[in-house]
Amino acid sequence: EKGGFDHFMLKEIYEQPRAILDTFRGRLLANDGTIKMAGIDQNLEKFLNANRIIIVACGTSWHAGLVAEYIFEDLARIPVEVEYASEFRYRNPVITDKDVLIAISQSGETADTLAAIKLAKEKGAFVFGVCNVVGSSIARETNAGAYTHAGPEIGVASTKAFTTQITVLTLLALKLAKEKGVFNTTRFHEFLTELENIPSKVEKALLSNPLVEIISEVYKDSANCLYLGRGYNFPVALEGALKLKEISYIHAEGYPAAEMKHGPIALIDEHMPVVVIATNKGHYEKVVSNIQEIKSRKGKIIAVVTEGDVQVKELADHVIEIPETLESLTPLLTTIPLQLLSYHIAVMRGCNVDQPRNLAKSVTVE
Ligand code: F6R
Repeated sequence: EKGGFDHFMLKEIYEQPRAILDTFRGRLLANDGTIKMAGIDQNLEKFLNANRIIIVACGTSWHAGLVAEYIFEDLARIPVEVEYASEFRYRNPVITDKDVLIAISQSGETADTLAAIKLAKEKGAFVFGVCNVVGSSIARETNAGAYTHAGPEIGVASTKAFTTQITVLTLLALKLAKEKGVFNTTRFHEFLTELENIPSKVEKALLSNPLVEIISEVYKDSANCLYLGRGYNFPVALEGALKLKEISYIHAEGYPAAEMKHGPIALIDEHMPVVVIATNKGHYEKVVSNIQEIKSRKGKIIAVVTEGDVQVKELADHVIEIPETLESLTPLLTTIPLQLLSYHIAVMRGCNVDQPRNLAKSVTVE
């Protein structure tokens, strides 16, 4: 049932090229130059007339929502707010019938997310769901939606659900960018073509596995770990930290790289591993100077870089390469080595990777 893998988590990490492809299937029609998604086509006016999009979710799904915020604002020029469902539902939020709420949930059963949906519906918002489990409560409660086609996710730590959520939300953003006229045909085509390349690039990113295992051996006994990223990869840093803490029980924090100097830099010494996402697009030079700041305080640097990188290689203690892609698609690749890192460290520490202590796969109580 684990298909030759030791754990469901590793199997699911390796299923990502296929899961992303399945999520594209029948929707991404690069040859025709179109994106077809029934739930959006039927409700296009709601999206195009929306004052803003509010995204609600919990945990890893909330991180996918943060990536989506960057994508929607950057590509489709639609204002987005991302909220923890548990905060949103209790803070008397301002919601009108001009708002579109997107709820993201792998299980489709998360109590807080479900309650946020009910609240938004009462206030007249149009509610769109991005779920993995077909026929789940959230899928039924929303006005429309698009499923991720990740297949069953058994490991408690979410992996393929995350990348397929980003996939669906990227398709949605691109479709809206095209419909709004923000994108010309050439740019739209460039994205569609590159999206089609993503599954094979994820495959390539998975080739880092043996190297990531070696790096894991070096840091498996660390007490703490910092994850840094900027722009599109800030949410990936948060997700990397969540993966490490939930399955290996190492304290980890994700931060926007530039926030370091406002506090966390005080933590840096020779015992602090710092995972930095430093791909070649999007504030590369700024991330390089953040790396220098860590280096001069003797922090250990594990950097995720683009193939062929030169500058970061000279500074970092370890570098993990991912293939080149469009900046807004990098989260789909940079996430992979971080999933593997948390997996190996957890296994080396003797942790129950698929069923970490105190956690449940779906959180049906608030
Ligand atoms: C982390 C994890 C949790 C879930 C969260 C939301 O690996 O699995 O943080 O992401 O409980 O669950 P869903 O997406 O089912 O609403």
